[in-house]
Amino acid sequence: MLKGKHVLSLMEFSSKEVLDVLELSERLKRKRRNGVYPLLLKNKTLISIFMKPSTRTRISFNEAMNELGGHCIDLTANELQLGRGETIEDTARVLSRYADVIAARVFAHEDVVRLSKSASIPVINSLSDAFHPCQVLADLQTIKEKKGLKGVKLAYIGDGNNVCNTLLIGGSLVGIDIYVGCPKNYKPNQDAIDFALKIASKTKSKIIITEDPNEAVSGADVIYTDTFISMGVEKEREERLKIFLPKYQVNQKLIEKAKSDYIFMHCLPAHRNHEVTDDIIDSKNSAVWDQAENRLHAQKALLTLILLKKSEIKV
Ligand code: CP
Ligand code: NVA
Repeated sequence: MLKGKHVLSLMEFSSKEVLDVLELSERLKRKRRNGVYPLLLKNKTLISIFMKPSTRTRISFNEAMNELGGHCIDLTANELQLGRGETIEDTARVLSRYADVIAARVFAHEDVVRLSKSASIPVINSLSDAFHPCQVLADLQTIKEKKGLKGVKLAYIGDGNNVCNTLLIGGSLVGIDIYVGCPKNYKPNQDAIDFALKIASKTKSKIIITEDPNEAVSGADVIYTDTFISMGVEKEREERLKIFLPKYQVNQKLIEKAKSDYIFMHCLPAHRNHEVTDDIIDSKNSAVWDQAENRLHAQKALLTLILLKKSEIKV
């Protein structure tokens, strides 16, 4: 059951729980298209804290609570006493007295773990240096809509970062094959690989980490990339560009090895002509705008499922 759960990496989810989020998200998306907004979270409050910038996550969480009849208070860390040294633990205890759920975007993953340990309400990781679970729920919904989940091969090309780690976890839970093509020292984290391999042995999916982007992309249904320079590693910019370019750029030459009806995905923001060329992100195969839209639907579903019992969700 998802009610009351912290959402830190998706490792805390079962396959069924991920599929439940996708299913409710699809239902809410259909209703919204027909102008129907079920007020499932009336009188519920989300406090959403950002220690790093955000466009999609901040706005989609805010809008998610609005559309569900609830309320969102979103703040940057510097607007809180947290920015002047109040501890994460004390902040968690206080916020738990005001709200129903907390979302936090942090630098060190440990910070959102600490928040969850001292909060008496659910805590959602809205991006840490290690994981980005809300992104991947929306990504899986996008893949399901465009390709289904059965027999799908996803190639992630580039930096084995927070998005890549979470794709390994979420992708293995729904049984898709994940191939990661990344440089030797930029592999996804070992915990995420180990989790994915363990789950994949049950779901019969493949998890392959390779330094060869062509091997990863060969026959792929989905090609996914993200920035080479995540928030927090800006100082490594020059060194990283030398390592990643041109070998790990998603461009016309690389995608020729994919299936002809492949879809291109990116969590955004994109750094055009670094990790992906304009012609690919702007092509008819690009799913990035639907993917960004699905952040809203997936977060509406996630918030509903962690705040309500299934029997209370009448949509
Ligand atoms: N994809 C994503 O999380 O975007 P923002 O940084 O704009 O929230
Ligand atoms: N990997 C990127 C994702 C941004 C949404 C970062 O952490 O900056």
